[in-house]
Amino acid sequence: MSGKKGIKCTPVVRGLLLWVLLTNIVLVLYCFNPTQVKIRGHQEDTCPLSMAGLLKNNVTTPSQSTKSQSEGCTPAVNIMFMKTHKTASSTILNILFRFGEKHKLKFAFPDGRNDFFYPSPFLCSQVKGYRPGECFNIVCNHMRFDHQEVAKLLPPDAVYITILRDPVDLFESSFHYYHKTVPLTWRINGENKLMEFLSNPRTFYSPEAYNSFYLKNLLFFDFGFDNDVKADDPRVMSHIHNLSKHFDLVLIAEYFEESLILLKDKLCWTMEDIIYFKLNARKSSSVSRLTPEFRAKALEWNGADWRLYQHFNATFWAKVEAYGKERMKQEVNELRRRNAEMKAICLEGGNAVEPQKIQNKRFMPWQPVGESSILGYNMKKDTDPKFRTICEKMLTPEIQYLSELGVSLWLTRLWGWFKDTVFTV
Ligand SMILES: *[C@@H]1O[C@H](CO)[C@@H](O)[C@H](O)[C@H]1NC(C)=O
Ligand SMILES: *[C@@H]1O[C@H](CO)[C@@H](O)[C@H](O)[C@H]1NC(C)=O
Ligand SMILES: *[C@@H]1O[C@H](CO)[C@@H](O)[C@H](O)[C@H]1NC(C)=O
Repeated sequence: MSGKKGIKCTPVVRGLLLWVLLTNIVLVLYCFNPTQVKIRGHQEDTCPLSMAGLLKNNVTTPSQSTKSQSEGCTPAVNIMFMKTHKTASSTILNILFRFGEKHKLKFAFPDGRNDFFYPSPFLCSQVKGYRPGECFNIVCNHMRFDHQEVAKLLPPDAVYITILRDPVDLFESSFHYYHKTVPLTWRINGENKLMEFLSNPRTFYSPEAYNSFYLKNLLFFDFGFDNDVKADDPRVMSHIHNLSKHFDLVLIAEYFEESLILLKDKLCWTMEDIIYFKLNARKSSSVSRLTPEFRAKALEWNGADWRLYQHFNATFWAKVEAYGKERMKQEVNELRRRNAEMKAICLEGGNAVEPQKIQNKRFMPWQPVGESSILGYNMKKDTDPKFRTICEKMLTPEIQYLSELGVSLWLTRLWGWFKDTVFTV
């Protein structure tokens, strides 16, 4: 750093140094895991088919407790949910937690934190209690996807699902949420760092820089690919083609309700299984509205994600078409009605509130570094006792729910403590 600005700069520099130091300490702690041993992909590592049947029979079938689909299909219990960042995936996670808990399914959870050593590529050895041949029902925490590794944990009949979002809105959201943890952005001046960045991304961006993947083709990165690839590189379409072979259903955040109806259909679940409250939404005043010019820049910058999104948007609507447009409309209406009913039963004030207004810490969502912009809920105090449990579960944010499911989160909590005490000004 140049000494030109002299004494005026010192507190800033000191702040930055402190930041770098603490980030590194946390980073070292994050990366240090004595149990993390790379296990090779031998055939015997894969989860045996016989186990799949066993697990399935062990489930108190949902069709017994709730009237299932008229077609008489069997509800799916083996599920891989590839949780992408900033795509409404926390709401899906809550649905999966509730279903898994209700039917006593076995989750493959990480150990000590809420993700599988993201952004390191996923290894099955990162799963708590993993041994070769061990079988799980549901994998759903954040990871950098690797199909071969994931396949070792799940029976062959597992249904693979994921969710995508318009890459421009995703980029805006990711920039807002993570830019303080990406050192590249610290030297961007001006009121609107996002626009400054988009005006000339290459001057700020370097693919090797710490946490830089949050700023470019984050979906591509999450799926395990090179996120700095050019949109017209032939590998882009090849990756997309390969993904479409692995995933049975790709949801689209912009059509969230339709997505859930397709999910219900694919998994042979009931309406009750997919009711939800939107979790982890951001207060609208913190969302930057991009002009068409800047939207175009963001699109170009995230060109690989854009191709990915367009491909799966098209397959999504083909599925809606096959399902039946009119049938879809009726089902979406029914889902809205059920959600509204639950809102009336569970929510104080009927809507999400700013974090400062959340009374019970149990319902306080994780906040980004240096600010409080993620909305949460207050539960009604006089909720009918027979709905208390379901209300609580629907309102519980990811971290707290993981804790309640027995996951140790000491690293996440340590990082949270740094975030809230040291970095909050
Ligand atoms: C089946 O359920 C029982 C009791 O819920 C449990 O102890 C057992 O481990 C389960 N079996 C499998 C294969 O998950
Ligand atoms: C897609 O899958 C095929 C077959 O497994 C593989 O040969 C190819 O390299 C993959 N594409 C990319 C871009 O990795
Ligand atoms: C997604 O597909 C729908 C239906 O075909 C279309 O109306 C919409 O414009 C598409 N979105 C994008 C971003 O391509």
